[in-house]
Amino acid sequence: MNTNKKIMVTAALPYANGPIHIGHLAGCYLPSDIYVRYMRMRGRDVKFVCGSDEHGVPITIKAKKEGITPQEVVDRYHAMMSDAFEEFGISFDHYSRTSSDQHHKNAKEFFMNLFEKGALEAKETQQYFDPEAGQFLADRYITGTCPKCSYDEAYGDQCEKCGTSLSPTELITPKSALSGAKPELRSTTNWFLPLDKLSDDLRTFLKTRENWKPNVIGQCMSWLNAGDGLQPRAMTRDLNWGVPVPIEGAEGKVMYVWFDAPIGYISATQELLPNDWEKYWKGDDAEIVHFIGKDNIVFHCIIFPAMLQEHGDYALPKQVPANEFLNLEGRKLSTSKNWAVWLHEYLQDFPGQKDVLRYVLTATMPETKDNDFTWADFQQRNNSELVAGFGNFVNRVMVLTHKYYDGVVQEPGTLTDEDREVLLNMAQYGRRIAKNLEDFKFREAISEAMSIARLGNKYLQEQEPWKVYKQDPVRAGTVLYVATQITAVLSIVFEPFLPGTAAKLRSMLAMDTLPEWKAIKNETIIDAGIKLGKAELLFAKIEDSQVEAQRTKLEATLVQKEEEMEENSHAAQKKDISFDQFMEMDLRVGTILEAERLPKADRLLKFLVDTGLDKRTIVSGIAEHFTPEEMVGKEVTVLMNLPPRKIRGVESQGMLLIAEDADGKLSLMSPKSGTPSGSVIR
Ligand code: MF3
Ligand code: ZN
Repeated sequence: MNTNKKIMVTAALPYANGPIHIGHLAGCYLPSDIYVRYMRMRGRDVKFVCGSDEHGVPITIKAKKEGITPQEVVDRYHAMMSDAFEEFGISFDHYSRTSSDQHHKNAKEFFMNLFEKGALEAKETQQYFDPEAGQFLADRYITGTCPKCSYDEAYGDQCEKCGTSLSPTELITPKSALSGAKPELRSTTNWFLPLDKLSDDLRTFLKTRENWKPNVIGQCMSWLNAGDGLQPRAMTRDLNWGVPVPIEGAEGKVMYVWFDAPIGYISATQELLPNDWEKYWKGDDAEIVHFIGKDNIVFHCIIFPAMLQEHGDYALPKQVPANEFLNLEGRKLSTSKNWAVWLHEYLQDFPGQKDVLRYVLTATMPETKDNDFTWADFQQRNNSELVAGFGNFVNRVMVLTHKYYDGVVQEPGTLTDEDREVLLNMAQYGRRIAKNLEDFKFREAISEAMSIARLGNKYLQEQEPWKVYKQDPVRAGTVLYVATQITAVLSIVFEPFLPGTAAKLRSMLAMDTLPEWKAIKNETIIDAGIKLGKAELLFAKIEDSQVEAQRTKLEATLVQKEEEMEENSHAAQKKDISFDQFMEMDLRVGTILEAERLPKADRLLKFLVDTGLDKRTIVSGIAEHFTPEEMVGKEVTVLMNLPPRKIRGVESQGMLLIAEDADGKLSLMSPKSGTPSGSVIR
């Protein structure tokens, strides 16, 4: 390993238009923090920067919605995000923001550098303009159907469903996100990065990268190899929020947010190290590693490298270990739809338990495929893996040493084969964990680390020092000595993952400094004769009521969304669907067998419905309009193939169709009486 290397670690700058949620954490902030903490323990020269991404359309949209200025939006979320990161133990060396003076200055310099080289091409093009709002519609100001996957909420810059990067003019049936109006085309001049001409250089760049994840390389290659290849991309926008374009003729225009944001990594390093920042960004020793989520791949692996290449002074990224997405209880996380576990709320609801979330998110990190976070899994992993496994082992070592030996680590007697094997195992675990961390395999790494606690428990269970003590206190002392060394190894290997827990362990083990990673190899980490500190609880059980409360919070989001949809349902005719989409609906005649009110829910009735195929439970929000008694025996229309979902703890397996007039009066969609259950409706 060349230890002169300067490791520059960046984590994607989060948009300052909403708080941080678990998807962000699992996507890039946790893996980057783990990596950096590990590298620091290896004594490597590593710097870790991030900051708020304060430009871009999502922020102006948010400001407009709330009737405040974009600056007020970013001030609010910048403070919130930076506090939450700190409390969660994300150990940035510097957390900056793209509204900083240094960043504006730096981004302008970068732009000028490319402009003066002739690396940017001015072009007059037709862009969408919203006549009602009186402005051009770039990026997220415009939505429409994705030309690649037909997702109908794709943005003007990207489809979040299939990840394709788009231009507004590629969208099918575009719509202004500001007014809903159909936009018209007007001409305007912007400055383009000619990615088409840079394709060969980019190909060479990608070919010379080593050990990149297949998902990352695969995405890049599919862009490079797409039918008409890479297209020139506008690096300026007709907007009034962003870094002003510093050239003549571009008054009133700002830089494209994806031009300025990645330069923010460099600006943050300049703020951190005004005199030394260049070593981390230029020359052969600079090793740049970008941690991101998969929706950021094109920007970090194609566009930013193209900018850096054109500039010429900078090193190109060595690694971009992008993660896939984390879902929440089976649905895509979404800031705008409020479908999320927010970090600041978690920290409030689970005080002192940040490491539990760090553990669960690392153990389920979406490294190679999307993954699902559920509260049931969270509770289970905490109670069985952290409390009953890890915590229990450490607690036994501490309590027994205090009980028998007044907390003093005993001089070991003769080591048995078992003792020696356990100790030897530690070094091997250390090597495997290190290798996994260096390869960005964080799930595997934390699972190996947990195996050490499991091994410790097994060792104690087999050696039974609590029984041996009576006849052979020296042997019991030896066992606890060995177990103390295992505990010390846990305090080292868990530092990158669970820093709060590792710090507690160090204080219990009377270690006053964070040891280096290589201490794992030492035969003795905690010397005999040392008096251990007070036993502290590492983890606490998470009760059913706690996770139930979290699920109720999520349910409220769904109910609210449904109400909003109901409110909107009398507006204009909905947009067209395809015939196939219609045929996918499985509509059938059903008969209501049983009906009852759901306790503590004014609006809900629970039905047992004979659908001809089965008898199933359906929950429906019609209790204010119908009594259970009048519903029994009724024939109804059932939408059969809606995914089942829990409403107030009851799983609803379908939907009853209801007509609602403009005054909100409901009537049941009942077929002619006598139509057999199971009849297909089309
Ligand atoms: N704000 C972007 C997002 O949340 C990420 C920006 S990363 C940077 O998707 F490279 F541009 F900084
Ligand atoms: Zn798509």
